Amino acid sequence: MKNKIILGIETSCDETSLALIINDKLIDELTTSSANVQTNFGGVVPEIATRYHQNNIHLLLQSILVNNNLTINDLTHIVYTQLPGLPGCLHVGACFAKTLANLLNIELIGVNHLYGHLFSPYIDSIDEPKFPILGLIISGGHTTIYLANSYTNIHILNETRDDAVGEVYDKVARKLGLGYPGGPKIDKLFDLSKNNINFLKNNLPENEQFSFSGIKTSVLNYINTNKQNNIGIDIVEVATSFQKTIIDDVIKKLKYQLKQYPNINEIAVGGGVAANNYLRNELIKIHPNVLISPLKYTGDQASMIVHYGSKLIE
Ligand code: KG4
Ligand code: ZN
Repeated sequence: MKNKIILGIETSCDETSLALIINDKLIDELTTSSANVQTNFGGVVPEIATRYHQNNIHLLLQSILVNNNLTINDLTHIVYTQLPGLPGCLHVGACFAKTLANLLNIELIGVNHLYGHLFSPYIDSIDEPKFPILGLIISGGHTTIYLANSYTNIHILNETRDDAVGEVYDKVARKLGLGYPGGPKIDKLFDLSKNNINFLKNNLPENEQFSFSGIKTSVLNYINTNKQNNIGIDIVEVATSFQKTIIDDVIKKLKYQLKQYPNINEIAVGGGVAANNYLRNELIKIHPNVLISPLKYTGDQASMIVHYGSKLIE
């Protein structure tokens, strides 16, 4: 039987990433990122990210083929991130994928980046998801709770109506002078003995949509007011109180969905913020089967894209 060799392509934000699955096994991933270039800007500059993809994607393809003793003609399928993401960045990946698939006359599968995150806890697992599962995608661009009955029957149960959790982390960190990406820096400072500031609690009922702009404004106002009044800021205290407020809200809303869907077998958690230590500790308290993305799969990479895409191929 002919080998099934699937190339995955991810270019939705600042990571340019390729991965290979050969006969259902993930065998390689190469990822390079413009994050270091972006750090001076406090966020991702779309034009910089787009150019970075354009300058690197073909080099990654050459390397991943050489590393695995393959030639381009060995590829049998191409999976790429179709949406959502920065338009210019997605465009580079889509053009590259479509050109390759057309020239090689092989199957092309465009996938939703978020479904890649959703199933990322299963990438290295020998077990398939025990559907129905509850999924939490918590990243710089998204904060969404999903109900997945299968790989293709997926419903949104809650989605942020304004900022995403990671985005708020990055804005708060920037204000505190911690640099980008802010999540890991705030996570590192977290010290529960310093949870002293009562930032605006999200008092919306547990069944309400996520909304994080209130807590963001509350933290930024606190910092501004203290600065204006020449009052020193305890960065650890601000970081801790902020992190506890925002993560507790996510947990509260996830618990609500568990009550609505008691037949859920597993909770799968992915996205950049899934790396957060406090979130991880709180998650394992709410359900016996919580699968959290391994750290290497929490950020953006093509392994999750090729993994999800491979489940859609007959
Ligand atoms: O999934 P991701 O790499 O990119 C997308 O947004 O799709 O997520 C990046 C986000 C950034 O906002 C970053 O600050 C956040 O994930 N992040 C964290 C942690 N590590 C990364 N947030 C909180 N705690 C962390 N340990
Ligand atoms: Zn992502």
